[in-house]
Amino acid sequence: MASDPSGDPVPNPHATEAEVEAARSDPKLANVLYHDWEADTYDEKWSISYDERCIDYAVGRFRAVAGDAEWPYQKAMELGSGTGFFLLNLMQGGVIKQGSVTDLSPGMVQVALRNAAQLGLDVDGRVADAERIPYDDDTFDLVVGHAVLHHIPDVPAAFREVLRVLKPGGRFVFAGEPTRIGDRYARKLGQLTWWLTTNVTKLPPLAAWRRPQSELDESSRAAALEAIVDLHTFDPAELERVVRDAGATDVRAVTEELAAALFGWPVRTFEAAVPQEKLTLGWRLFAYKAWLRLSWLDEKVLSRIAPRQVFYNVLVTGTKP
Ligand SMILES: C[S@@+](CC[C@H](N)C(=O)[O-])C[C@H]1O[C@@H](n2cnc3c(N)ncnc32)[C@H](O)[C@@H]1O
Repeated sequence: MASDPSGDPVPNPHATEAEVEAARSDPKLANVLYHDWEADTYDEKWSISYDERCIDYAVGRFRAVAGDAEWPYQKAMELGSGTGFFLLNLMQGGVIKQGSVTDLSPGMVQVALRNAAQLGLDVDGRVADAERIPYDDDTFDLVVGHAVLHHIPDVPAAFREVLRVLKPGGRFVFAGEPTRIGDRYARKLGQLTWWLTTNVTKLPPLAAWRRPQSELDESSRAAALEAIVDLHTFDPAELERVVRDAGATDVRAVTEELAAALFGWPVRTFEAAVPQEKLTLGWRLFAYKAWLRLSWLDEKVLSRIAPRQVFYNVLVTGTKP
């Protein structure tokens, strides 16, 4: 693999067919190929921004599981940072002063560093596997991650590494992980919405709502790689056990999004299945406001009456003794 002057591998956004074939039985290689390929368009695809909307979301997730008593953290590192969504927005929200982004995908690290530079934030970056973090013991006050644990083959090993690089008393916060039950209904709803949208738009009067077959084929290929990189779903109590067994104290998992997920997954799948120009600003505002209202319902009402394992997202925090 080619490397840059620091010894880190360089991005490979144009994988060969042989590499893609090899990735079918190698989830880490699949992760690198898939995320290197997606890095440049990732923010657009997932509506990631570095403004108030995403700052509020990132800071809200952090506060929901870890509170705000210890802010600001001086030195923080993100695992599986992608383009920097979580760490950069936490920095902008005043949670973190100085940051390091890491990711298995060189393309993602490159984009995260570019985003940080554009925002004028104090951030460095390394290409890194969460199971072997290239930093010394006792380096960070905080380690964070968003939507990364479910991609890591050996999650207990990653938590042992997180605790190794944290200073004593340091905290970790992981958010945006799928619960076991949530993933089941989200997938079913997604599949049903995809099937309905792609078939209904075959009707001649709805032809303008049909995406070109080549784009639909590309989405299906991406979905096939996604199936290789998505390795785990989590039961909140089991996740707490895994991080305690790795040596963490003060461990707590919380869950969120039930009504919001039941609405959000079909909407996201529908948006991927129709031509982008059909998604007007009015539609996007409607979808976002409805999602906000349903999130409010989840937080204020459903979280008091429904068991935590039926919500879609799980977040976990703990500290190094
Ligand atoms: C779903 S993306 C999330 C990116 C970002 N955290 C966000 O929320 O937008 C998962 C990221 O984890 C990275 N990743 C997957 N396996 C990893 C591993 N073993 N070590 C470090 N990063 C990994 C992928 O390359 C990808 O960028």
